[in-house]
Amino acid sequence: MLGFTILLFTISLESVSRISSACERRDTLYNIVPTTGAQVRFLRELNLKNETLDFWLLTSIIGHEVHVKVPAERNVRFLTELLSQGLNPLVASSNLSACTSGTPQKRAARYTTTESLDFTRRYLRYYEINRYIDYIGRKYPQIVTVNTIGSSFEKRPLRTVTITRNKSNKKAILIDAGIHGREWMAPASALYVIKQLVQNGDTNGDLLNNLTWIILPLVNPDGYEHSHTRDKLWRKNRHPFRRCTGTDGNRNFDFRWGEKGAARHECRQTYSGPKAFSEPETQAVRDLMLANNQIVKLYLTLHSYGRYLLYPWGYRKSLPKTWRLMDAVARAGSDAMKRSHNADYTVGGVGRILYEASGGSDDYALAVARIPIPIVMELPADEAGFHPAPEKIKPFVEEAFSGIRAMARKEKDDNRLVAWRCRNGM
Ligand code: ARG
Ligand code: ZN
Repeated sequence: MLGFTILLFTISLESVSRISSACERRDTLYNIVPTTGAQVRFLRELNLKNETLDFWLLTSIIGHEVHVKVPAERNVRFLTELLSQGLNPLVASSNLSACTSGTPQKRAARYTTTESLDFTRRYLRYYEINRYIDYIGRKYPQIVTVNTIGSSFEKRPLRTVTITRNKSNKKAILIDAGIHGREWMAPASALYVIKQLVQNGDTNGDLLNNLTWIILPLVNPDGYEHSHTRDKLWRKNRHPFRRCTGTDGNRNFDFRWGEKGAARHECRQTYSGPKAFSEPETQAVRDLMLANNQIVKLYLTLHSYGRYLLYPWGYRKSLPKTWRLMDAVARAGSDAMKRSHNADYTVGGVGRILYEASGGSDDYALAVARIPIPIVMELPADEAGFHPAPEKIKPFVEEAFSGIRAMARKEKDDNRLVAWRCRNGM
């Protein structure tokens, strides 16, 4: 038994050094598939210890992949611990390097404005996202309003796009994206929703009947820019603290702030911030929710990755009393994406399906802003993790929109049913 362990250990270490020599930071990405409840619990607890491990993908489901990036100095201990749990960590493909260096994207100089801002062909930078937003606002002033709702720590304006045919609508959907810098699919998907609603009225016209859409395509522009220019894997915002930089926006909301799954140390990926709402980005999202909570029925917050549709609670495993309402909407989304793109989304409560993490925007939306249906959408990845190849952007945003459209329709139908029952005394 011991000999076997040592053999496995040696093989893993060899492949580790091969991969990490290509990478200045010498981090390693592992792919692990837990096959027992005890192994799932072990990984979950490893995550809750809040060390320097960066879980890219973590679920509590037996047989689902777990992806974790391990720094060099933690590597040997990590492998020893995992092997002793009977887990067999595989070194993931070397394209998944933690290095900043990547091929710079080609600038599309000879294209027209709309072509050069085609976010389904490449990932736009912050200034380009703004140019697209401005363009949409200018071109469709009858239905589009652009607002600045605050600014980031580094003073980048945070812009929303509100789409409505009737300013006195009683119902709205709020979408935000990109609270985590490295999750590039999220802003791209939010922009695609805008494009479909505004520029594809023939197919999606019904989505604007009695329904207002409020969309914030990039919550964390500082982290997003940093992820483009310095460190592809940057997650947090760019607020500097004593030893390290950045608060995790999705641990900074003032509901059960600083409890499970949120780190107190400023060098951790899931740092909760020095106090609840210490960050201008989360304050802006909070204010947006509270200013519209009379009409917002569905709050969708876009992340990546793993193909999940999740609802509160995030701070604990148990579900709120109204979980069935959220579950029905999420299932409408996953069913639609299965039908249209054969996509397999997993639906459920955050704390049960993924892990417990407090101070999230979804929990705050439900518990404090009283938005009845908050849903976290974890978009897909390819072998390149958070940054799918540019050719994947189009199929992925199309798939996501199919789900988002279905969730919006489901929400509308449910409301109609409630109204009908009231009218008919049922
Ligand atoms: N991957 C997301 C995160 O870790 C999921 C958040 C889900 N919501 C929550 N309240 N934990 O931030
Ligand atoms: Zn995220």
